[in-house]
Amino acid sequence: MSVPVRRSAKPKPKPSYESLGFGKFFSDHMLIAYYSESKGWHGVEIKPYEPFSLDPAASVLHYGQALFEGMKAFRQESGKCVVFRPEFNWQRMVEGAKRLCMPMPSETQFVSWIKEVVRVDQDWVPNKKGASLYIRPTLIGTEGFLGVRPANEYIFFVILSPVGSYYSEGLAPLKIWIEEDFLRAAPGGLGATKAAANYANSLRAAFEAKQKGYSQVLWLDVERKYVEEVGTMNVFFVFDDEIATPKLDGTILAGGVRDSVITLLKSMNKKIVERKVTIQEIKDAALNGTLKEVFGTGTAAVISPVGELGSKNWKTTVQDGKTGPVAKALYDTLTGIQYGQLPDKFGWVQSV
Ligand SMILES: Cc1ncc(COP(=O)(O)O)c(C=O)c1O
Repeated sequence: MSVPVRRSAKPKPKPSYESLGFGKFFSDHMLIAYYSESKGWHGVEIKPYEPFSLDPAASVLHYGQALFEGMKAFRQESGKCVVFRPEFNWQRMVEGAKRLCMPMPSETQFVSWIKEVVRVDQDWVPNKKGASLYIRPTLIGTEGFLGVRPANEYIFFVILSPVGSYYSEGLAPLKIWIEEDFLRAAPGGLGATKAAANYANSLRAAFEAKQKGYSQVLWLDVERKYVEEVGTMNVFFVFDDEIATPKLDGTILAGGVRDSVITLLKSMNKKIVERKVTIQEIKDAALNGTLKEVFGTGTAAVISPVGELGSKNWKTTVQDGKTGPVAKALYDTLTGIQYGQLPDKFGWVQSV
């Protein structure tokens, strides 16, 4: 069943490619759906992008029931618009919603709603490699009450933002700060979810790292011994004899690009291992020359090489501060599939 569409009477001018950056512009329409215990999901509609009103006692504002996703639509060379692995994002959001005691639309609803809103705003999918339409599905508790319990009413909405590069550095390698004081997540917590709370928790560390001239932080585990992930990316280390990425242990977000990169590396016959990685072994490998590359993966960040790792009393340059061959090959292959220049061997893209 298709979603009713209320078209905007005042379509906005499209931003130029050069001005895109990340998350600064929003398309003409949004999708919204409502949930109540008695009615289930209802009232789904695509309507003009506009503010909505909330009860000041809405649970999202007090008890933080907020969960989101991040995915992208690409315009391929043929002009066709595709979305990348939407069922992966649905599955991850289902797990997060369970953790936060929230209801989720079904996979069929989620995927078809995403495709329908992208189709309505398909003119907003940029026509240039490197640019895309970022898709932000969001789920919030809207019931107004005080007292700590799950809400009985929710809104699921999807907004769309044409984006270029996530970092102001563009594709240039990043400087990353090893965070030894603040903690992102602990076992049993929210680390594996895309709960808004995780990002609120990350702001102070990122702010302080920026003041020191670093783009993002590399989070360590609760013992400050093992590497977890970077701000909004999963992290990979290319050693002499293997490529390693921290294994998923409940405190790390299971990235869709991480999963895709593991598949791509295997298809390139590279030795890729998911395991615990200590910060000490990174320091040792940097010192003895066996740390060849570091890069982050994420929907927004794509494949982002790391050119410098710094901490309170130690720092190192990686790959002479340049993009390494593994990161470059992965970037070319992943974006080649997304933009339709390479065959979609793994069935990752879906037409909208
Ligand atoms: C904390 C965190 N880790 C990892 C990722 C990468 O996940 P994905 O590849 O699904 O975008 C993100 C992405 O948005 C993130 O916010």
